[in-house]
Amino acid sequence: MLDMQTQSVSAGQALATPRPLRSMRNEGTRITVEFDDGSAGRLSTRWLRLACECDICGDTASGKRWLTPADVPAGIRAASIEISSDRMTDVIWPDGHVSRFAAGFLEVHAGHGGDFGAPRFHPELWSADLAGRLGRFAFDAVVEDDEALFRSLRALRDHGIAMLTGVPAEPEATLRVAGRYGPVRETSYGKVFDLISRPDARVAGETARAQIPHTDEPFRYSPPGFIFFHAIRTGAGIGGTSLMVDGFQVAELMRRNTPELFDLLTRHGVTFHREHAGDVFFSAEAHVISLDASGAVTGIRYNDRCLAPQAGSVEEVDGLIEALAELTRLICDPANQFQHQLRPGEVLVFDNQRVLHGRTAFDPTLAVRHLRSCNLDRDGVHSAFRTLARRFAPGEAEAVLYQGAIF
Ligand SMILES: [Fe+2]
Repeated sequence: MLDMQTQSVSAGQALATPRPLRSMRNEGTRITVEFDDGSAGRLSTRWLRLACECDICGDTASGKRWLTPADVPAGIRAASIEISSDRMTDVIWPDGHVSRFAAGFLEVHAGHGGDFGAPRFHPELWSADLAGRLGRFAFDAVVEDDEALFRSLRALRDHGIAMLTGVPAEPEATLRVAGRYGPVRETSYGKVFDLISRPDARVAGETARAQIPHTDEPFRYSPPGFIFFHAIRTGAGIGGTSLMVDGFQVAELMRRNTPELFDLLTRHGVTFHREHAGDVFFSAEAHVISLDASGAVTGIRYNDRCLAPQAGSVEEVDGLIEALAELTRLICDPANQFQHQLRPGEVLVFDNQRVLHGRTAFDPTLAVRHLRSCNLDRDGVHSAFRTLARRFAPGEAEAVLYQGAIF
């Protein structure tokens, strides 16, 4: 019998080629699928009828779809099933309708994840040890070569962070390279943000302070997906070291060491806000740690500087503050931080719903420090990954990716 444990795609790994199909056994509301290697899986007959994408039923990928779940009765059974010589399977339904399925399609859905389903991608977690594994990609390559772009997108999927090198230290280059990864999000702050401190800056004391690692804009219902930090000018030796933290790794530490605090952050709403009087007022109540239906971490949203006064009973609020305090201690622990001093021409790209970013303090009276930043929507970047995976790693295209800080 087939191993029914959830199969997963691990970082950088492709699915095996589909196994040849031997037979399909009609068992009423269930269909047993047998493969040449002796393994077998099971499908729901109702599911199989709904999976038909013939011209009459329509196509779900484009949305030109005409068959609805309500059109498929609960007790539906196949009248007959035939495997043709070209390894296509014809399922004939009682009303005479014929559905054709490729063996590979049936293999994926009968052979993965519980009873059936696309495999789930499992991210590769990191801590202070990221330096040796961080993907570094040349600007020229990702701009001109789709395969290099794909490799960098895969690194973003695996680690939630990658570095681009050799990026011209000129403002136009930021959007030129970011646009390769997906649509750039325009927000109330514009499309590109310049983070500049100058020796003569009048509010330098504020802008040069250390920042605890955080995700940006957790006060939005849908926070920025991916962030580009393009170093145009940096003042060597003046501080300003980037501190990057894998939020998924920290979440797993909490799950292991303080499960009750982890649990609170996955189910108690936390409110983040941002107000510029008369201009904008954002407020979002969401979980700091988002989980998918299987309990895996899919997203993080946390910025201590945007925490609103929290609502709840006195006991609840005290528990919540302790959970946030523990999270803050973990993200400030150098053992969990990848530290890097950005140099001009480097770009850090990171998943803002997984990786927290911060920096050490710097002395703005010594040099000009200029970072140029823009945001990309998360689904646009994953769409670019899947589209290129169809060409360069077909087995990785359909895995379910972690979908971010979704609620
Ligand atoms: Fe930030």
